[in-house]
Amino acid sequence: MRPSPLSAPQIPRHVAIIMDGNGRWAKGRGQSRSEGHRQGAKTVRMAVTRARELGIGVLTLYAFSSQNWARPGDEVESLMSLLVEFCESERNLLLDKQIRFRVIGERSRLPALVLAAVEALEQVTASNEAMQLVVAISYGGREELVAAAQSLAREVAAGRLTPEQVTADSFRAHLWTGDLPDPDLVIRTSGEVRISNFLLWQSAYAEFVIEPIAWPDWTEADFDNCLVQFAGRDRRYGGVAP
Ligand code: IPE
Ligand code: IPE
Ligand code: MG
Repeated sequence: MRPSPLSAPQIPRHVAIIMDGNGRWAKGRGQSRSEGHRQGAKTVRMAVTRARELGIGVLTLYAFSSQNWARPGDEVESLMSLLVEFCESERNLLLDKQIRFRVIGERSRLPALVLAAVEALEQVTASNEAMQLVVAISYGGREELVAAAQSLAREVAAGRLTPEQVTADSFRAHLWTGDLPDPDLVIRTSGEVRISNFLLWQSAYAEFVIEPIAWPDWTEADFDNCLVQFAGRDRRYGGVAP
């Protein structure tokens, strides 16, 4: 194992990654976008392994957005098959390394086969405590906020909650991320400087690192370098620097 670039207290509790650039990576090689996603899946294995080695508590990966359903059918299909393959091929790694797998997103939009595969992996890893791997599939931050608002509205309509009890804390509890800590660090590969509907509530005070490298080419050394950048940031949460 490569030595850790940071001391244990400097390691972020929650790292979230917008895994971007698979399509451009493939296009640059005259290959199909699906081939780019296939290569990207290999980087996922590296990121999960490295996060676990470094003692990161939660790793969230943005795999498929609510808006990605609008992509061409064959690309969506290949992404869905890759997700099912991932659940099978990485099962032993997650069990070996004591990693709990969870999915956030609009579960009702997932094809039955995908839903079955992710729920089976959630169940079999449910008691693992060394790290949580959260995969955002059919995920959108706005969709999540609307779902939370609807769920709170139902509670109020049923008389179980007063409007005044709708607070930042009760709102947070209704998000798909529920009990997870907010991300400390959000990384986006492939150079785009935008959030693309990812963890809108949760990233309120996250640090952002934009990597120029496409996801399939992203390495362990690049991951370490993002963490070093994070450790150099001065987080103020609206306060004043000491
Ligand atoms: C990220 O790569 C993977 C998904 C969004 C599913 P893209 O497919 O967005 O690749 P680019 O951004 O078009 O290069
Ligand atoms: C964000 O990337 C979604 C995922 C990485 C899964 P996109 O490629 O879909 O975002 P835009 O279109 O560049 O904003
Ligand atoms: Mg993209």
